[in-house]
Amino acid sequence: MSLTHLVQTHSIDTQRVAPFTGEGAYHGSTNKRAVAASAALPPVVEEMRPSTLDGYRLDDPRPIRDFEATFSNLYVVERELALPTQEEVRDDGVTFCWCPFEEAATLAGPLTARVLEAMREHLVGDKRYVYVDSKIQYFEPGDVPVDSQHWHVDGSIVARGKVVEALGHALLHDMKARLASGVAPPRYLAYQSSDHCATVFATSPVTLTLPELIPNFNGLDAAIRELSPPFALQPASTIVRTDGLSLHRAQAATGAGWRLWVRAVETDRETVVSSSIIDCYGTVFRMREP
Ligand SMILES: [Fe+2]
Repeated sequence: MSLTHLVQTHSIDTQRVAPFTGEGAYHGSTNKRAVAASAALPPVVEEMRPSTLDGYRLDDPRPIRDFEATFSNLYVVERELALPTQEEVRDDGVTFCWCPFEEAATLAGPLTARVLEAMREHLVGDKRYVYVDSKIQYFEPGDVPVDSQHWHVDGSIVARGKVVEALGHALLHDMKARLASGVAPPRYLAYQSSDHCATVFATSPVTLTLPELIPNFNGLDAAIRELSPPFALQPASTIVRTDGLSLHRAQAATGAGWRLWVRAVETDRETVVSSSIIDCYGTVFRMREP
């Protein structure tokens, strides 16, 4: 059985639904589920090295320092494709989880194949790996595509280990390393077939004071909501370009219907999926009745 692609007949009756908790995973980011999927940790590449942690020592515990963080918030609508019908989305059949791009292009259903061929023209090609994630989901109004609506960035640099534990955490996102390393962050191309559950993207640079290591995105989310930067909702059937410094968040569906989401990531970090997380990848998250 493949762990990186899933052939499935989608129907409203079989759409997986879970209660929304707000504590869950982001699209393919370095969260608990994605990390649990890796049997052996790949070698650390510069793009993903938590270099800020070098400034903290086990024998010299100190509080986590703040720094001035600037998110460049790259957001470019690269392509607009023909709007698919709801049936085309529902019946596309194959979804992906960290699937190598060329393999995904071979296996994809007709709509996803067209999306990937369009994306191919926009790949930069300076990273070692290109992976594809995708979901086919049916939303009722109010459903959320992931179990969080927090502002966040994808592909954050995650640190673990004894020093992190000495700081009181199991995991820390090294925000400063991503912003200050000088290494190009992971690059993303993302497609959404419709706009009834559009991702919200910040569209101009944002500077704020942030702890250089953060255990989750709660504080960043609160700060961005306070700053209320200009934003865009991804238009229907478009491919947008972002990178690891692009703030964005999911929002609840405004109407009922099917949506295909496809994302290609260009990264230096190898990801080998070793457990079946793709089965629950297309789950939608529903608010409790008030
Ligand atoms: Fe995300």
